[in-house]
Amino acid sequence: TLTDVEPFLTLIESRDDLAAQLTEKYSLKDIYVVRGDADHNVLVKEELARLMAEKLTSNLTDGMVVSVAGGSTMALVSKFLKPGFQDLLFIPARGGLGEDAALQANSIVSRLAAAANGEHRMLYAPDSISKASLELLKEEPMVREIIELNNRSSIVIHGIGDALQMAERRNVSGEVISKLQNRNAVGEGFGFYFDADGNIVHKVDTIGLQLEDLKDKDAIFAVAGGSGKKEAVKAYLKLAPQNTILFIDEVLAEYLLG
Ligand code: BG6
Repeated sequence: TLTDVEPFLTLIESRDDLAAQLTEKYSLKDIYVVRGDADHNVLVKEELARLMAEKLTSNLTDGMVVSVAGGSTMALVSKFLKPGFQDLLFIPARGGLGEDAALQANSIVSRLAAAANGEHRMLYAPDSISKASLELLKEEPMVREIIELNNRSSIVIHGIGDALQMAERRNVSGEVISKLQNRNAVGEGFGFYFDADGNIVHKVDTIGLQLEDLKDKDAIFAVAGGSGKKEAVKAYLKLAPQNTILFIDEVLAEYLLG
């Protein structure tokens, strides 16, 4: 629980020096670095989530719509979010990506809304249906509402993952794994898989936010921790729009500076 963890988080310092060096090298809206390696210390991931919740809070205003992706890091953010704004609305950035229920954006938005005293909407769009069914689904009023809300959301919050780890976690077909391998996918962010140059090499066929929509938002909060995500985050920075606020740990920051 939060009370178990909070006293320890104060032990995880920020590495503002690394953040400053990264800001010189990459033109993003902001960069935050926490000490350690999330793959070796669970508190590092908690601290990334806590920091993200804190900075999110300073960017929120009443009535804001926030698009949210899934993942285990995102799943921790609600632990640290507090009420303070009127009429916040949290919505899934994209439809089903094949995650476990607890890591899906649908469940994360409901927890964020509960924590912030806001509202949420679910997006009922499975990831393994035919293109034709997907097109039909897009006409459903409940689904259209989410598409429209994603078009006018101000903030997007999401994690960044290693491509093959994410594919395995989502139990994708052998065919998709081969495609990712052949096209040298290294990273993934809300259903978009990319190579080391930041080219999209595969995307999960689902409904919701597209990468090109990101540049029009007020801010994109992207979070990743752990040495296993080195290539993924380096590549992500080749496609990240300038309005990105990046939260990473020390091990990734050092790699990006190296
Ligand atoms: C996914 C997100 O669910 O989580 C992705 O849609 C991200 O954007 C991934 O790559 C990261 O997961 P985790 O568990 O490493 O935070």
